[in-house]
Amino acid sequence: MRASPTQPLNETLVMPARGTTLFHVIDPRPFERPLLDELCDIVTRVRLLAKSDEGARFLRDLLPTRRAMLYFTQPSTRTFLSFNNACHIVGMRTSEIRDPSTSSEVKGESFDDSIRTFSSYVDVIVMRTKESGRAAQAAKLMDGIQRPVPVINAGSGSDQHPTQALLDIYTLARSFEDRGGIDGKTIGLMGDLKRGRTVRSLCYLMRNYRNVRLVFIAPQQFSMQSDVKAYLDEHRISYVETTELADVLPSLDAIYVTRMQSEWDTAGESREIDLSRFSIHTRELGLLKRDAIIMHPLPRGSEIDPAVDQDPRAVYWRQERNGMWMRVAVLIKIFGVEQRIPAIRA
Ligand code: NCD
Repeated sequence: MRASPTQPLNETLVMPARGTTLFHVIDPRPFERPLLDELCDIVTRVRLLAKSDEGARFLRDLLPTRRAMLYFTQPSTRTFLSFNNACHIVGMRTSEIRDPSTSSEVKGESFDDSIRTFSSYVDVIVMRTKESGRAAQAAKLMDGIQRPVPVINAGSGSDQHPTQALLDIYTLARSFEDRGGIDGKTIGLMGDLKRGRTVRSLCYLMRNYRNVRLVFIAPQQFSMQSDVKAYLDEHRISYVETTELADVLPSLDAIYVTRMQSEWDTAGESREIDLSRFSIHTRELGLLKRDAIIMHPLPRGSEIDPAVDQDPRAVYWRQERNGMWMRVAVLIKIFGVEQRIPAIRA
């Protein structure tokens, strides 16, 4: 993310413009509160517009000449589909590579050359990779060429997932709309906090909200990494760590549940965990505040019993859907057409 395509990148951290433009979306750390609030506002306006055929046609006419490349070489269901549909909502056309064996990388083409090739054909590259740092590498490459296109990180290794964090912020902000927003809330993050990129990215965005308390609930082996904790310390964001869900559940305004990221196991270490201690079943619901919310980035394993879906505090299906609308907002902001979206009348 940066001010204009001709400005150099600040190392791997791509700084956002002060003000209102958005280019690459690589890392959540540079996002400031005004931009977060603006993106959330765009989401709400777009969702409202999309309810009518007329509004949906208006949205489809926003970016009909723009094209997106979806380069997803790591498995993805909702992030891929939500980006694909977000593009279509604003009239963009998409092309995709999901299987690296169909790309010239198998002929020995370098990652950089592949990315440069994609950029020749499209106006934005959305990418998910198994390796950390690839989206940042692609953004840096773009900044050195004559016709750079924005790069959106749709998940890089176990490192970052900035657009997930944005949709999580929208879900939190909407859920607490009548209670002063995210400021002052106590948010529990549970599960594999060590290898889950969604929780890492969400923690970074918390510096934008006042008096937020984070509660990390994880097995010792999968506790939050020290780099994120150092960031929270640096930004004076309060957090505590525990292995006992029942002790903290009654104090939470939101619980963000995640699955064990067993695809990163080297010797079946996640199988040693008694996951039932880091799960929400109907019996846990009794301990949760009446107005608390239950979130999950999905996909879920056994850490949320499907019976919990019926509880009005379970917002993860809404959260999933918010993902598509937040990705619409990100595209609108990147291509600078946000002024065309009508404001909501009070
Ligand atoms: C997450 C991811 O890919 O990191 N999924 C998603 O994008 N909604 C979470 C996960 O896989 O556990």
